[in-house]
Amino acid sequence: MSVQTHPVRDLSAALEREIEEQERRFVARQPRSAALSDRASHTLAGGVTSSWQITRPQAVWLSHGAGSKIYDVDGNEYVDLHGGYGAALAGHAHPAVVEAVQRQVARGTHFAQPTETATEVAGELARRWGLPLWRFANSGTEATMDAVHLMRAITERDLIIKVEGCYHGHHDSVQVSVSPEADEVGNASRPNQVPSSTGVPKAITDLTLVVGFNDLPGLQALLEANAGNVAGMIVEPIMMNAGIIPPEDGYLSGAKELLHQHGALLAFDEVKTGLTAGPSGATGVVGVTPDIVCLAKAIGGGLASAAVGGTAAVMEHVANGEYEMVGTFNGNPLAMAATRAMLFDVATDEAYRAIESLRAKAVDAFESVISAHGLDAHVVSAGAKGCVVFRPEPVRDYRGFLEIDDRFNHVHWLYQHNGGVFLPPWGKVEQWLMSVQHTEADIELFVANFERFAASLT
Ligand SMILES: Cc1ncc(COP(=O)(O)O)c(C=O)c1O
Repeated sequence: MSVQTHPVRDLSAALEREIEEQERRFVARQPRSAALSDRASHTLAGGVTSSWQITRPQAVWLSHGAGSKIYDVDGNEYVDLHGGYGAALAGHAHPAVVEAVQRQVARGTHFAQPTETATEVAGELARRWGLPLWRFANSGTEATMDAVHLMRAITERDLIIKVEGCYHGHHDSVQVSVSPEADEVGNASRPNQVPSSTGVPKAITDLTLVVGFNDLPGLQALLEANAGNVAGMIVEPIMMNAGIIPPEDGYLSGAKELLHQHGALLAFDEVKTGLTAGPSGATGVVGVTPDIVCLAKAIGGGLASAAVGGTAAVMEHVANGEYEMVGTFNGNPLAMAATRAMLFDVATDEAYRAIESLRAKAVDAFESVISAHGLDAHVVSAGAKGCVVFRPEPVRDYRGFLEIDDRFNHVHWLYQHNGGVFLPPWGKVEQWLMSVQHTEADIELFVANFERFAASLT
């Protein structure tokens, strides 16, 4: 993980000008996307298949992907650093994934009975994450939902703790203080429990206590105030739904110790960091093994696959049927075949060495551009993931993240997009994902677009 910082000027007028000009170019390049959005609005609610696909200035409709590239329906090619919200560590149509999926499709895709591949996948996850027992699911949401259920089932307590600004999917218990506004968050030492979605009963929101990231005194106070009632805490070990916010030294080990002192459990949500921050995810990077870990996104090589791993003590409650971890498609042979290919043929040591070299190249070049143009920004990266933080000081929690002017990220996104690089939408929230199929030339285009963006502002 690396964090580097630099010195802020009022660029408001330049930002507004660039947003207008770059959005105009964006829309001009994509007439067929606009037409498809229009047509879709009659049959797909909001004209998209998931609400976060509704992005400004318009949704981009894709036709296909190959290697490190994706193609929109207007025929534009992009270096894909969106990675399908962080899932495409394999890139697109990776030969190992294609071969594994093709072989399994021809042998049947669903039985709801265990297949041998699942044991190979579980064994490799156990080796990488240092947790002995695993089960599977189909999405990050399902994985974190099982983690929360498990913590409650084991401790027979109802309260859970989550960190302000972390996203753990769209089940009720974690739809709290995901992206609250500055006037909603309340006192930093005891943040408000802000509902993050309509449709979640207050009675459930009340069971999710909120604490700041990197705030051990806050966690201790919360545990003491609710002694004997907290089942556990779920946290992104490296926050990745607020740009990238690394944990401070001792934070995660200190959290684990405090929770255990209070008879509570620690769950890492590695849905985003799993396999992307490194071969053993953030767990390997930070050197702290939680009681429960949740994986999804990248492990499936582009198919829906998720996993929950736990200590023997935790998973005993699943093994003995006390907590029934179920799902028709759990461990589905197609998902298992793709996940096996990811673990044994795609996310290899050699692939991580190549990604590290691209990461270093991108970060060094971005830092040079930031210095040369005197931008008030810095770069944060973790393995295949990285982002520019448009603020001179490092960000240590969600409150710091709230202070970032999102217009910088939007203009940067537009420059990259119009210049043939597809970053994830949603500005400062998201980060890039490099895949095992990206090349030096891809990174050079990425850097060249950043240089043009910086020059346009400064
Ligand atoms: C950290 C984290 N956890 C959980 C989820 C939910 O995953 P899914 O969208 O697969 O349900 C996400 C999705 O972005 C995520 O970023």
